Amino acid sequence: MGHVSIEGLCKEYVERRRQARGYYAQPMATQGATLQVLRNIDLEVEDGELVCILGPSGCGKSTLLRVVAGFEDASAGRVVIDNTQVNGPSPHHIFVFQHSGLLPWMTVWENAALGVRRMRDRTVAAKKIQDAIGVVELNGFERHYPHQLSGGMQRRAELARALVVNPEILFMDEPFAGLDYLTRLKLREEIVNMHELLKKTILFVTHDIDEALVMADRIVVLSDRPAEILLSQPLATPHPRDFGKNQELGEFRKRLYRLLEVHFAV
Ligand SMILES: Nc1ncnc2c1ncn2[C@@H]1O[C@H](COP(=O)(O)OP(=O)(O)OP(=O)(O)O)[C@@H](O)[C@H]1O
Ligand SMILES: [Mg+2]
Repeated sequence: MGHVSIEGLCKEYVERRRQARGYYAQPMATQGATLQVLRNIDLEVEDGELVCILGPSGCGKSTLLRVVAGFEDASAGRVVIDNTQVNGPSPHHIFVFQHSGLLPWMTVWENAALGVRRMRDRTVAAKKIQDAIGVVELNGFERHYPHQLSGGMQRRAELARALVVNPEILFMDEPFAGLDYLTRLKLREEIVNMHELLKKTILFVTHDIDEALVMADRIVVLSDRPAEILLSQPLATPHPRDFGKNQELGEFRKRLYRLLEVHFAV
């Protein structure tokens, strides 16, 4: 179960600044100003679909994910997941944040174990945790705390925690940010394989057009802020995808670059 229906979603933030005092105080010109971030977003995500969301920096991708996951309220419109309107976060949905969401006072193992803390059979739980840690290649670092890991290793630990849970919906906000290229390629493959096997609904935000092309069942492109949907295109090409050889995919890639106003790469 993981059908997501986004209906006429709008989100705006109202600036509420305290008047600062002293030398560095800034004039309060923007007090009460509204920043419109999302405008009329309509999107249907099928159960088991892997949707990659692309868009310029600051357009509202993270905001969209947070509203859909129930961490923030919509200003207008609504989100319905499996016939129930979203009013807050759900334990059946896992969010992998753009910035580290690891608990700093817990080891890699303990962080990963959070997802299976209610599982009665501790042997099965331990196997799930060890498998996930193995997938992200953190074997040997189980007892390390987040501050003892590199940035890339922290992201991998976070992915392990998500894989352990086996959630109905996975919200991933640039989960590979800060990872080296080879690790990114490997994790992409892991996620695609996991998705083909488990068919979980995944909403995946990325800046990387090629990443979206090799992973997605559907690519959604957002405009500059206030973000509107410029394109919502299903991709049926089987994996592994080679946009160098597949002409149709190559043309679509060029279109995505143009939509995102990156002309030099075309
Ligand atoms: N809690 C908040 N309060 C006020 N404004 C916010 C808040 N969160 C985000 N914004 C504003 O909303 C806009 C969209 O932010 P968001 O983080 O969703 O962008 P993004 O598309 O994820 O960007 P990036 O690609 O850089 O991660 C930005 O202008 C940001 O300043
Ligand atoms: Mg973001």
